[in-house]
Amino acid sequence: MITAAYRGHVDAQINDQYHTLSGSLRFLNNIVRFPGCGVFDAESSYAAVDRKGKNLIGMILCSRVRADVGHVTQVCVLPEYRSRGIGESLLAATSTNLRKRGFSMLSLTVTEANAGAVALYRRLNFDSKRVFDAFVWEG
Ligand SMILES: CC(C)(COP(=O)(O)OP(=O)(O)OC[C@H]1O[C@@H](n2cnc3c(N)ncnc32)[C@H](O)[C@@H]1OP(=O)(O)O)[C@@H](O)C(=O)NCCC(=O)NCCS
Repeated sequence: MITAAYRGHVDAQINDQYHTLSGSLRFLNNIVRFPGCGVFDAESSYAAVDRKGKNLIGMILCSRVRADVGHVTQVCVLPEYRSRGIGESLLAATSTNLRKRGFSMLSLTVTEANAGAVALYRRLNFDSKRVFDAFVWEG
């Protein structure tokens, strides 16, 4: 799902793990099993499943980066299921869960060129706190 969601995507230029199934599995292992980006929080992470086909069509993964701060490490929806509110529902499910558990903040990073995602986060009242460069090694 990750490779399909990021095919031709600007983030796949930055994170080459998104190009292949093995790379995406490595990414997932790092996020879920190792504390590379906070501690994975299964309770506030969700999968979106197509009821008919029963296949995975979207996901949101959240980690805990401080006792009361969550961080979205991954949110993606398959291209053919986009613009139907699934991304927004996934973010709403995560923030509702965190709020219930007393978290005070939810953060994420997004590439500026990913205009659709930026617009979605702005619409959901995420504020921009810091802008930083991403460097790509093309060696
Ligand atoms: C970012 C991403 C997760 C958003 O998922 P999504 O399911 O398309 O998100 P939503 O449908 O909730 O909202 C996106 C758009 O749909 C529109 N929309 C939401 N519900 C809708 C509905 N019922 N009918 C029509 N349009 C709708 C929104 O207004 C929004 O407008 P836009 O298309 O002009 O941006 C998805 O585009 C994606 O997977 N992108 C690739 C991976 C990625 O960039 N992830 C984020 C990394 S930070």
